[in-house]
Amino acid sequence: MRTQVVIVGAGPAGLMLGRLLELAGVDATILERKSADYVLSRIRAGVLEQGSVDLLERAGAAGRMHAEGLVHHGVHLSFDGDSHRLDLTQLVGRSVMVYGQTEVTRDLMAVRNGTTIYEADDVTLHDLDGKPFVTYRKDGVDHRIDCDFIAGCDGYHGVSRASVPASAVTTYERVYPFGWLGILVDKPPVAEELIYAHHQRGFALCSQRSLTRSRYYVQVPLDEKVENWSDDRFWDELRSRLAPETADALKTGASIEKSIAPLRSFVAEPLRFGQLFLAGDAAHIVPPTGAKGLNLAMSDVAILADALIEAAVEKSDAGIDQYSSHVLQRIWKAERFSWWMTSLLHTFPESDAFSRRIQRADFDYLVSSQAAQQSLAENYTGLPIAGLP
Ligand code: FAD
Ligand code: DHB
Repeated sequence: MRTQVVIVGAGPAGLMLGRLLELAGVDATILERKSADYVLSRIRAGVLEQGSVDLLERAGAAGRMHAEGLVHHGVHLSFDGDSHRLDLTQLVGRSVMVYGQTEVTRDLMAVRNGTTIYEADDVTLHDLDGKPFVTYRKDGVDHRIDCDFIAGCDGYHGVSRASVPASAVTTYERVYPFGWLGILVDKPPVAEELIYAHHQRGFALCSQRSLTRSRYYVQVPLDEKVENWSDDRFWDELRSRLAPETADALKTGASIEKSIAPLRSFVAEPLRFGQLFLAGDAAHIVPPTGAKGLNLAMSDVAILADALIEAAVEKSDAGIDQYSSHVLQRIWKAERFSWWMTSLLHTFPESDAFSRRIQRADFDYLVSSQAAQQSLAENYTGLPIAGLP
């Protein structure tokens, strides 16, 4: 079989890329290791920047998001119980959309006309510097797809980045000594807008998926096991980290999902190896504090789609030649912001009294300075995607 682009991974990055290519008449086949149901069962991000909203519109997959998503004009930050609201719209004229990654994925699956092969085993990339092809096994039968380009959209643990000789990639990494324990519950959110809270016991986040479904997180040590956390223990811990009036207003119930995600910053450079291009979590990881992971995956593939369309339709390599340096500029800015939000709001086991005072001063400066708030709001709502309208 032959296609113009093989996309490895049917997460949000792979599905969005596939859709943008198909709308431009570029043929793409997606290979995904898991089943569609499994992909939809993963509970992950919940906040979309305007750029991601625009992209879902371009993909023709924005109908349900506009009907069911919640536009948020502000966000709350609290530090040891002192709570402040940042009015994002007043500060930078932009807002964010609260709409779950699961729903984004479902909507992108629904609009797709091209071929997606789920439960593709042993996906292997070949001849990246020549005439590339990809092999895989499905239901015990081996297959081969010849192509012009391969897009590695297969996440941090995927095969694409691992297919490149280690000597060709430089990686930058920071592993944090904690993770986020998250639960999903069918109860109304504790507040209209999100609350990011620093507390001596650790970070907490009150998020939501709808007016009747909430998502909460607490910082836990890296070696913590989800089995050790009954729902009651989770609610007690969350309450202890929130301002008293928020803790009193919390509506608790039986969790419908509970999981721990470790926090990591990671960037691979470059993002092009012959005819292979990396995008999304395959290329970089951010700690979730700034809500950037999904959004960065979206902006990567927006730029990659235009570059591949230019190469396939106009036979010009300008876009693909610039892809890596183009997206890395934006990636590093999101890495910086996510690292900074993480440093501001978490407790670090190794931190001394001086670092704790600096952390508090960082918060006090933020809530007293319009400039600092504008900087946070500009990053949180999403930096512009250079080169796109
Ligand atoms: P993914 O969503 O990881 O998709 C990659 C796809 O490739 C997967 O479907 C995978 O099954 C498939 N794949 C992997 N290997 C292969 C292979 N060998 N062959 C074929 N297919 C393969 N971000 C936030 O902003 N907020 C959050 O709360 C948040 N929570 C997260 C929790 C977890 C546990 C993780 C892992 C990430 C979280 N993120 C969060 C980050 C955000 O979800 C990601 O940035 C986003 O999913 C990136 O999309 P992607 O399409 O690049 O990668
Ligand atoms: C959610 C996750 C985040 O990392 C974040 O910053 C905001 C919201 C969420 O899952 O709802």
